[in-house]
Amino acid sequence: MSVILGTPLQSSAFKVLLLGSGELGKEVVISLQRLGVEVHAADRYPQAPAMQVAHFAYCIDMTDKTQLQQLIQDVQPQLIIPEIEAIATEVLIDIEKQNIATVIPSAKAVNLTMNREGIRVLAAEELGLPTSAYRFADSLESFKAACDDIGYPNFVKPVMSSSGKGQSRVKAFAEVEAAWQYAQTGGRVKQTKVIVEAQIDFDFEITLLTVRAKNPETAIIETHFCDPIGHRQVDGDYVESWQPQQMSATALTEAKRIADKVTTALGGCGVFGVELFIKGDQVWFSEVSPRPHDTGLVTLASQFQSEFELHARAILGLNVNTSRHSQAASAVIYAGVDANNLSYANLNMALQHPDTDLRLFGKPEGFKRRRMGVVTARAENTEQARTLAKQAADLVQVQTHQEANSSLG
Ligand SMILES: Nc1ncnc2c1ncn2[C@@H]1O[C@H](COP(=O)(O)OP(=O)(O)OP(=O)(O)O)[C@@H](O)[C@H]1O
Ligand SMILES: [Mg+2]
Repeated sequence: MSVILGTPLQSSAFKVLLLGSGELGKEVVISLQRLGVEVHAADRYPQAPAMQVAHFAYCIDMTDKTQLQQLIQDVQPQLIIPEIEAIATEVLIDIEKQNIATVIPSAKAVNLTMNREGIRVLAAEELGLPTSAYRFADSLESFKAACDDIGYPNFVKPVMSSSGKGQSRVKAFAEVEAAWQYAQTGGRVKQTKVIVEAQIDFDFEITLLTVRAKNPETAIIETHFCDPIGHRQVDGDYVESWQPQQMSATALTEAKRIADKVTTALGGCGVFGVELFIKGDQVWFSEVSPRPHDTGLVTLASQFQSEFELHARAILGLNVNTSRHSQAASAVIYAGVDANNLSYANLNMALQHPDTDLRLFGKPEGFKRRRMGVVTARAENTEQARTLAKQAADLVQVQTHQEANSSLG
């Protein structure tokens, strides 16, 4: 299988269009830039992280069919890489059908995973994978019935939402009505449908980064796995992750079986973040992102090819290497304030240990719980790496414009 890449900004350019320009997209763009790929980045707001490292940037409403079609027509990319879920996916299905561009990893994957109902029905009912017990509900009445059916505590999530928005853990019938109201605020569409999931009493949860890449000799897509990543979630957002997460050989085999099955069904090439719950030898499928995963930022420090490089290589048809050279951890840096134009201080204190590293995403706007950067740390084991990463992240001082000016003066 021959892969041919061109020269950016010339007629030979190999062009990709990134839909969504967050911090994960930024790292994917950097990997693509290193291979001389011409990158076009879109998002709903200007100066988004990935736009700052792309050749061209566009502000559009990606949920608007016409705007999205127009952009694709103007750019004429070979690959379209959706980096977020809120996209008019029917446009992508069309593009794939007409062979205008390749959708990464596939239009089916993007369409099914943007909606918790689509991916849950595929995983549990079509593929027969173990998941939590669940019901769907689209009115207060059916929601009450679903909660009673599933029992307490349970997790309620709008089917069209991500990053914990509108989600709650319902501990008793008395909380049902408030949970319904809250869910209505968090979805991407009005009159939100929700999934009610029974709580899984897991020992720990992992992301199994799964890479589907073409074997250069046979052109057949093969599945590769990174070592499992452990992570800790607070309010639906990851706060720290580490690799490798120790687990039993039986559980790891089962995790790979589940990840292989679900990613094969979704199809295409690229990195998938398969989220799994583990208890002893038992494994449950939770959800999957058809793209690099936030908890996988740790691979910047632990692997020869980070999840971003793996994604770039897999989507371009290049071979991949998922092996790890170090034990490592990542810890998130939050804005901590609602303010724009932030500065970051005390960096040499934070980076005092030689095995720590820092990414600042360059987001123009901050708010309290917004992720603005991440620290990674390598150590002899993940416990030490977690401690190092957390200490370093805590040392980074996020300052408002006024604070930065006064500390200079
Ligand atoms: N059924 C469940 N049982 C136990 N814990 C759960 C369950 N569902 C969700 N959780 C907890 O809540 C977290 C967030 O849930 P989920 O991954 O479904 O939401 P999300 O909004 O997609 O989050 P993200 O976008 O950050 O991945 C999980 O990582 C897990 O810690
Ligand atoms: Mg999740």
